[in-house]
Amino acid sequence: LRRTRPYGLALAAVVVLTMTTWAQQPLTLNNGAPVGDNKNSQTAGENGPVLLQDIHLIEKLAAFDRERIPERVVHARGAGAYGEFVSYGDYSALTRAAFLSQKGKKTPVFLRFSTVIHPSGSPETLRDPRGFAVKFYTEEGNYDIVGNNLPVFFIRDAMQFPDMVHSLKPSPITNRQDPNRFFEFFAHTPESTHMLTFLFSDYGIPANYRETNGFGVHAFKWVNARGEVRYVKYTWKSLQGVRNLTAEEARRIQADEFSHATVDLYENIKRGNFPAWELQVQVLDPKDFDKFDFNPLDATKVWPEHLVPAMTVGKMTLNRVPENFFEASEQSAFSPGNLVPGIEPSEDRLLQGRLFSYFDTQRHRLGANFQQLDVNRPVVRVNNFNQDGALSARRTASDTNYHASDAVAPYRAKAGYTSTPMPLAGTTQQRTISKRNDFAQAGDLYRSFSEAERASLIANLSGDLKQVRNRDIQIKMVSHFYRADQDYGTRLAQALGLPLADVKAVAQTLQ
Ligand code: HEM
Repeated sequence: LRRTRPYGLALAAVVVLTMTTWAQQPLTLNNGAPVGDNKNSQTAGENGPVLLQDIHLIEKLAAFDRERIPERVVHARGAGAYGEFVSYGDYSALTRAAFLSQKGKKTPVFLRFSTVIHPSGSPETLRDPRGFAVKFYTEEGNYDIVGNNLPVFFIRDAMQFPDMVHSLKPSPITNRQDPNRFFEFFAHTPESTHMLTFLFSDYGIPANYRETNGFGVHAFKWVNARGEVRYVKYTWKSLQGVRNLTAEEARRIQADEFSHATVDLYENIKRGNFPAWELQVQVLDPKDFDKFDFNPLDATKVWPEHLVPAMTVGKMTLNRVPENFFEASEQSAFSPGNLVPGIEPSEDRLLQGRLFSYFDTQRHRLGANFQQLDVNRPVVRVNNFNQDGALSARRTASDTNYHASDAVAPYRAKAGYTSTPMPLAGTTQQRTISKRNDFAQAGDLYRSFSEAERASLIANLSGDLKQVRNRDIQIKMVSHFYRADQDYGTRLAQALGLPLADVKAVAQTLQ
């Protein structure tokens, strides 16, 4: 024993030294001053009350009381990861976007997946579209594609978004989601038939976040250096393939784990099994707009690939889980309004409403200076005359914080970066689009499904429609599906015990 003691002492010294390096980091108050006791409040003697002068206690409780921020009004439940996008080529003939200007060009990205309707702690197994929001940190500013895992949307005008979301969210009386409410909304919204056919098929419950595609849904404009405009639609093709769950499989997973998709994403990335997606782009010349039996700016429609072929322009790989969930996933702020030179919004009226809504909600959710948070901050310097506001970390560059001025202004607008001119004429109006064609693509989708997929769709839809007490709403809904495809509507009517003659009568009244 005596002989081993020096070694024992040396070992103990190393351990103590290592521990003191840790211990040398003092626990501090928010002002950096060391804390003496992190367990016992200051009291007036053994049995006396707690003292107000105990700043550490008061500040610790106050910080805890403020840990929650408002969750996203939609898409509250989600998870994100960092990665990289690599351009497959030089696409400058189509767009001047810098991140697509060169083969092999790498751009860092952050991607957040989400569900839409339920709160931030809800199960990831629910039937719901999945958000698929990508932020590119490009050399000309941040570019976001804020898309979903389904290629179309329920509605075509932003005016209807709050009503639609109210009908899908839990009832203000019972606090439960209620098919009576959302089917009443959709019974008045025939353009939702296409999206509902996706949502109630097994595509409505993706197996996880990795095995799903992403879609930009809207048309956007690509503009090249000569100012030539093309309209584009985006698809992210999962290189893991696409896998969905039946309602029964989802129920089994949910019984054990309701964060299965986040766990799957993070564990695969940590293991080095990096998920990847290829970005496909459909390019449409505006002079071809009238060639279709639908309006290409209508977000309830796909551009069928046999009419508008897709080309693959790059690959995104996710390779890093954020160190802190709140800092990255919760504080990330995506917006269809984060655009870069060479990419502009189309006239899609759903998209135009989104251009306002995201920045507005983020100022409310995260504060006026949310774009200065790490996850949202561009990799290039932000130079403008916006200033101050809560938690501003901007540097003031000059006394001349206005434009225009006689003094040499610190920043100047750059020639050649104005928005692309668009010829317009006519009278302002407030009415729906003329080429609505609400049912044809829903029918095409139904017919593209295998028999097993159709059976699942009928079971899922009739399961929810059975809960609707108002028979007129049931008939109206089924009439929409009947107009999409007679077999589709007939099978639903049978599953719900509705007379087909009544369904047909309503279907005939639909445009
Ligand atoms: C999130 C509004 C349509 C995809 C949000 C948020 C709002 C919103 C307010 C919360 C943003 C935040 O707190 O950071 C709207 C409005 C729409 C609309 C007004 C229609 C007028 C769509 C469509 C898509 C979509 C068509 C898909 C193409 C998303 C995604 C998120 C989101 C992915 C979550 C982004 C994230 O992960 O932080 N939307 N939305 N939304 N929306 Fe929309």
